[in-house]
Amino acid sequence: MSTALLDWYDRHARDMPWRVGPAARLVGIRPDPYAVWLSEVMLQQTTVAAVRAYFLRFTARWPDVAALAAAADADVMGEWAGLGYYARARNLLKCARVVVSDHAGQFPRTRAQLLTLPGIGPYTASAIAAIAFDEPATVVDGNVERVMARLFAVETPLPLAKPELTALAERLTPVKRPGCHAQAVMDLGATICTPKAPACGICPLRNPCQARAQGIQAELPRRNPKAAKPTRHGIAYIARRDDGAWLLERRPDHGLLGGMLGWPGSDWGDAPAPSPPLATNWRDPGAEVRHTFTHFHLRLALQVADVAADSIPTQGQFMGPAEFRPSDLPTVMRKAFDIAQSALKPD
Ligand code: ADE
Repeated sequence: MSTALLDWYDRHARDMPWRVGPAARLVGIRPDPYAVWLSEVMLQQTTVAAVRAYFLRFTARWPDVAALAAAADADVMGEWAGLGYYARARNLLKCARVVVSDHAGQFPRTRAQLLTLPGIGPYTASAIAAIAFDEPATVVDGNVERVMARLFAVETPLPLAKPELTALAERLTPVKRPGCHAQAVMDLGATICTPKAPACGICPLRNPCQARAQGIQAELPRRNPKAAKPTRHGIAYIARRDDGAWLLERRPDHGLLGGMLGWPGSDWGDAPAPSPPLATNWRDPGAEVRHTFTHFHLRLALQVADVAADSIPTQGQFMGPAEFRPSDLPTVMRKAFDIAQSALKPD
């Protein structure tokens, strides 16, 4: 099976800016561990298509791990904005700094050593060890789980099935070309063994696939229903000064949206108490923000105001265009900004 998969990968590997394709690897070109690490951390957040632009911006600005380690925290958080799960960006920076301070700027080459670095868990450690250093480590993400569940007709529902699917993926991992193999399984899951309507007719594993033999490929992997997410409510205050500066606050390093810029506001809960950051004539722009986080839905009411140059806030600080780029905002705060900007009169 692994040979059939590698043959397929040799012909159909997707082109990605961080990837060294199978032909180049065969003549000895190795991927840059920094690029592999950065892309794999980003790919835990979103799709390959969305990661491309982030990856290219990051590597243009910080071409190697030493450059990233030397970056200002706020700059890295700003470039990560929109990817979500901001603890990952803080850990990314921590990890870069440890690689520089404790490993002479070289990523460790084994899965076991990689696991000791901040923010590198089993998935990322396996991905770097396999892809960058050809250690026969097994990479298991959602794509790989789906491919294994189908190939071996595993009926156990996720998340209970995870250990079983991991064991199957390990059995399939070859000693030769484990890096290509890892990427091949993920590419197969992303392009052929897709969640809905898999393209079994062109799949290199169609013959051994047990789910296909039983005609149940589209039903696998089974999943236990997820717990419903609660809805929280909040109020955000968006003030623009007459010189064009916006009232923003940097959120504490830990917790939700930690280290990111945002609008001052209430706590998020069942019935938030108003907490305006300055006394002015606030108004409702007539639209709220809806945003879904990992564990809850948020409905964020907005209050907007144009305020005078001598306004002194009790929360946050005014930031002019030299310090604040709207693209630095995390998505929920950016949605609020877009509403406020169209509600406030032109500057
Ligand atoms: N998804 C996450 N990492 C990937 C990789 N290295 N190749 C293909 N798809 C991926």
